Amino acid sequence: MLSLSKHEGCRNLQSASISERRQVMIGKLNHVAIAVPDLKAAAALYSGALGATVSAPVDQPAHGVTVVFVTLPNTKIELLQPLGEASPIAAFLERNPAGGIHHVCYEVEDILAARDRLKESGARVLGDGEPKIGAHDKPVLFLHPKDFCGTLIELEQA
Ligand code: CO
Repeated sequence: MLSLSKHEGCRNLQSASISERRQVMIGKLNHVAIAVPDLKAAAALYSGALGATVSAPVDQPAHGVTVVFVTLPNTKIELLQPLGEASPIAAFLERNPAGGIHHVCYEVEDILAARDRLKESGARVLGDGEPKIGAHDKPVLFLHPKDFCGTLIELEQA
């Protein structure tokens, strides 16, 4: 188990071989996900005060969340509310009762190549390391927030 001091929030992952290769990996920002305690109130805030285009709520039982999609010209915001007993965002909302940014999602062209390269650099891929089908019916993976400046990163195959 890797232990991190509190000054090592952005891990110094092995990057020498990567910079030599100079491969572009992450592409567009697919979405920013915000966990909220009250999805209806959050959707009303985005459609009302912020004047954004907001979808109807969509239950995603496989992911333990109900989602509202906010469409912006250059990306999406996903408002997430826990669904069911074992929601993966329940603990986050306990720590952040008013809500907060839960993860950011970057697109990659080849999710398996991205995973292998990240593992090689020492980054931790969450779960069993196999991509799961995400909210947009595309394969996704999550990276450990302690390896990326305290931010949970989702990678989605473009
Ligand atoms: Co996401």
